Amino acid sequence: MTRSNRRRSLSTALVSALTAPDAAEGTPGRLDPSAPAEPPAEIGPARVVVDLDLPGDTISRHLYGHFAEHLGRCIYGGFFVGEDSEIPNVRGIRTDVVEALQALRIPNLRWPGGCFADDYHWRDGIGPREDRPRMVNSHWGDIVEDNSFGTHEFMDLVDLLGTEAYVNGNVGSGTVAEMSDWIEYLTRADDSPMAALRRSNGRDEPWTVPYFGIGNEAWGCGGNMRAEDYAALARQYSTYVREHGDNRLTRIAAGASDGDLRWTEELMAVFGEDLAARPDARPGPFQAISLHHYTLSGPWEAKGLATEFTEQDWYLTLSRAFEIDALLARHSTVMDRYDPYRAVGLVLDEWGTWWDVEPGTNPGFLYQQNTLRDALVASLHFDAFHRHAGRLSMANIAQTVNVLQAMILTDPDSGALVLTPTYHVFAMNTGHHDAAALPVHISLPEQSPTVDGRELPLLSASASATEGSALISLSNLHATSPRTVTLDLRGAEVRSHRGTVLGAERLQAANTPEQPEAVAPRELTGIRPHPLGLEVDLPPASYATVSLELG
Ligand code: AHR
Repeated sequence: MTRSNRRRSLSTALVSALTAPDAAEGTPGRLDPSAPAEPPAEIGPARVVVDLDLPGDTISRHLYGHFAEHLGRCIYGGFFVGEDSEIPNVRGIRTDVVEALQALRIPNLRWPGGCFADDYHWRDGIGPREDRPRMVNSHWGDIVEDNSFGTHEFMDLVDLLGTEAYVNGNVGSGTVAEMSDWIEYLTRADDSPMAALRRSNGRDEPWTVPYFGIGNEAWGCGGNMRAEDYAALARQYSTYVREHGDNRLTRIAAGASDGDLRWTEELMAVFGEDLAARPDARPGPFQAISLHHYTLSGPWEAKGLATEFTEQDWYLTLSRAFEIDALLARHSTVMDRYDPYRAVGLVLDEWGTWWDVEPGTNPGFLYQQNTLRDALVASLHFDAFHRHAGRLSMANIAQTVNVLQAMILTDPDSGALVLTPTYHVFAMNTGHHDAAALPVHISLPEQSPTVDGRELPLLSASASATEGSALISLSNLHATSPRTVTLDLRGAEVRSHRGTVLGAERLQAANTPEQPEAVAPRELTGIRPHPLGLEVDLPPASYATVSLELG
């Protein structure tokens, strides 16, 4: 999407946010122009109470989902290097990228966009590569796309990763018939026209496609629609995205930007009274609605570089990251009115940091570095996701490789691959997948500073439990002070513990081919028994996990 498009839609979001009670604007562009206050020079020992015996909502593994768009070097040069590349690959798909993501147990992958999805015509990406038509990728660099990575290549990638497909359809410039045919092509077993076409292209068996997006950002790059107009289209298109054979679908309507509650309201109104009156009703014609929210610490015109920031920017960014909690609460509240039994999923299928592109790279390719600041933005999001696990059914960071807040960066010349600090947060959190969220209470000795008009607690935490084990996440947001945390562990006997910590010498440290482990997890040694449970020493600006074996 163009920046001006996004700005236009953000101003709608801003209006709704400002007119809502206790507005948390959830949008880039500062409402409070006063400079952030200084954080307290001293922070003292904190207490984190975890009720190990009170399991709450299940944290779906899909909250750790991913997103791969035809944008910059995400697909081409990131996931897909082609069969003739010297980089080891399977049918053109980079082996090291696949292996790194397998280690994260990525639960789903959204494709082909993003804004690209509403320009994409799937028939152009099937059949012999040399016969595939070209197209212009007008949103992302205005480059010519040769469609060499299409449906078969994507589903091959999904298989190699051992993940689940989230295919995003085209409402903005596509047709109902085109979308209907795509799901038939993907998932139908018999000799229907689309199944036969798939077979003629070398794939006999249907694939499983559990998630299907009904357009993207319909308020912006997906058609500049009004909420009520898109809601009507979402009903219509979803109807024709059919379940073939035993392929069960979650159809995801294109949802709001940031604090645009009216958009969510309009989509939920499609369900009328049905879901409130019948607790066992299956929502239809779509089953989930999306939400997009990016973290910026400046205006779109001057977002700053990923690696060049001050301590003040650090706190401002983390305060912005905290907004996700209020944003999820507010959209959930709107949804609760129509759907008190929480049958409709909220899908945050684009989130993450958005910085200025790295110097010398194509502005349309959205290539940015990644530091501890990005890692802590991620850990704060995950803490909020865990708190909202009852409604939030999926989340997809933007984007997996070489674009925005990536897990993996690849060097365009040498092909070298590095894992980002954000990757490591995902890795440290795999124990939260499908675990039950636990109640967590934090007691801080200091007054939290006010940053950008909001209180910023300098410690964040969340916890979850599965059979016989628990995982606790702790983020020390203070840029320069360590913090000792007493983990007050209630309701179960702790047999053993193990800590891992992610930190760095400098806030701005980033992983590069020359220094791939400048920001890498290591064992947390400052952890010892305490009469209440455990005591943990967190380094300044760090993310830590403590895993427990329970008796
Ligand atoms: O993730 C980059 C872009 O951000 C996506 O294409 C679009 O949906 C959003 O505006």
